Amino acid sequence: MKKIGVLTSGGDSPGMNAAVRAAVRKGLSLGMDVFGIQRGYEGLLDGEIEKLQRHSVGDILQRGGTVLRTARSERFMTREGQEHAVKMLETFGIEGLVVIGGDGSLTGGLELARRGVKVMGVPGTIDNDLGYTDYTIGFDTAVNTVLSLISNIRDTSSAHERATIIEVMGRNCGDIALHAGLAGGADVILVPEVEVDINEVCRKVLRGQQSGKLHSIIVKAEGVETGTQELTKMIEETTGRETRAVVPGYIQRGGTPSARDRLLASLTATKAVELLYDDADSRAIGVCGNEVVAYELEKALAMKREFDFKLYELAEVLA
Ligand code: F6P
Repeated sequence: MKKIGVLTSGGDSPGMNAAVRAAVRKGLSLGMDVFGIQRGYEGLLDGEIEKLQRHSVGDILQRGGTVLRTARSERFMTREGQEHAVKMLETFGIEGLVVIGGDGSLTGGLELARRGVKVMGVPGTIDNDLGYTDYTIGFDTAVNTVLSLISNIRDTSSAHERATIIEVMGRNCGDIALHAGLAGGADVILVPEVEVDINEVCRKVLRGQQSGKLHSIIVKAEGVETGTQELTKMIEETTGRETRAVVPGYIQRGGTPSARDRLLASLTATKAVELLYDDADSRAIGVCGNEVVAYELEKALAMKREFDFKLYELAEVLA
């Protein structure tokens, strides 16, 4: 394969730039032409495509966001959109595509693969919600961002003897809450994978209070059904402890990527390009243990994410 394209799609995640850099530089080192596609599938449909050089991806390794920019494209979700995307690729002579993004973006890639395009999916999302890979690019950085927020919030919560709920991102996946909550010593961790018992949450807050804890930190994933405001009110009414809620939102998506995310991005994007060079069938690239893995795209997307109940139980024991 001589001509490949690279795009980032869906919610940005720290480390996407490292993946773009790796894809471009690996491609060039193999003698391929590498085209950068702006604004994900949206830019593909509009032909926002240009050839990249080594220097085009200089000085981006340490930057959050994505220099290729990103979008959630409604137009690409239609059959007409997908057919038009294939035509655009043909116009530029692009035979294979590296798609860096989450579930929706890789599912979009699968639609192109069904139309004959070779697509390699690189897992770029803070959510860590893809079943086929242990980790996704951006997750580690997001967890560390939340961790730093937890310590700030702990200070002010202790000073005021308050309970604070921190609502973190993750869509329907509780991994950011679980990992940051465990690492940050949260008193309670609420995830969509485990049913919420509000009375039990209040009991835990009360127990902490009675044992002399000055603060109660509750890390709640956004995918949990019980609303944050409702929970705040319930805790305050039941325990008598003043309760606040913090929603860091997009703060979790930005910032310089951690070493772990840069490595994951570099390894998976490089593998994606190698597979395209070898003319392999469409795959989703990820990591399992310390190994880089590449599963058939459709099969990878059908793999169900397993929640780490052991880690969740450990967090309960240590809280
Ligand atoms: O998928 C990444 C993510 O940040 C989720 O955690 C969050 O639910 C969603 O994107 C927010 O999407 P948007 O950027 O469209 O508001």
